[in-house]
Amino acid sequence: MEETRLVETRAKGVYWDGERLLTRNSNPGHRVYGERLFAFEGVEYREWSPSRSKLGAYLRLGGLRSPFKEDSRVLYLGAASGTTASHVADIARNGTVYCVEISPRSFRDLVKVCEGRRNMVPILGDATKPQDFHFLVEKVDIVYQDIAQKNQAAIFAKAMRSFDSGSGMLSLKARSEDVTREPREIFEAARSQLAREGFKVLDVLDLEPFEKDHAMIVVGV
Ligand SMILES: C[S@@+](CC[C@H](N)C(=O)[O-])C[C@H]1O[C@@H](n2cnc3c(N)ncnc32)[C@H](O)[C@@H]1O
Repeated sequence: MEETRLVETRAKGVYWDGERLLTRNSNPGHRVYGERLFAFEGVEYREWSPSRSKLGAYLRLGGLRSPFKEDSRVLYLGAASGTTASHVADIARNGTVYCVEISPRSFRDLVKVCEGRRNMVPILGDATKPQDFHFLVEKVDIVYQDIAQKNQAAIFAKAMRSFDSGSGMLSLKARSEDVTREPREIFEAARSQLAREGFKVLDVLDLEPFEKDHAMIVVGV
């Protein structure tokens, strides 16, 4: 394994070695998506690729509003096969990441990732129906949503309220809302919808060049 030298960034639990972001690997010796592993002072870290993860892109672009902490309880909607969720679980090493995914195929891969990480809980479910998995999830601190479908802001707002969450991050895909409208208009519409629904919008960041037509919206209550 390659050695590196790193410092913690302003985002808790996220490190920088001068070239790449990394998180401390909570399942040492194991990769989730082919990422490189590095060692520093006897501890293993995983590279966090900004082109494979919208949260990684947000942080790599200088996004300052990461709400994740070592003991955070996170509801992650649209976990797919666990790429980003595994980095969130590395950060929230003493917390819990509830990973909701609707596709049985992605869910199978997600379960394998969760098997190696005691703080990741896989849930086969539909993010639009929080009542269906409410009984599995305690109150959470953060809702993170990354689902490519219509009405992303409304689905996110409903989950924030259902789980009484204090912080949230919405990875918004403009083309899933309306392919004919300018992405910037769609980002602005989502921002004002969330503000109207009573959330404090702390940040809206376009994820270009890592992700075209995507923005990260960070909210508090
Ligand atoms: C862009 S991928 C997520 C990538 C993942 N967040 C990451 O960074 O590693 C979007 C995922 O959302 C899932 N999805 C779409 N609609 C959903 C819904 N209503 N409930 C739960 N998952 C959903 C899709 O099956 C897909 O796996």
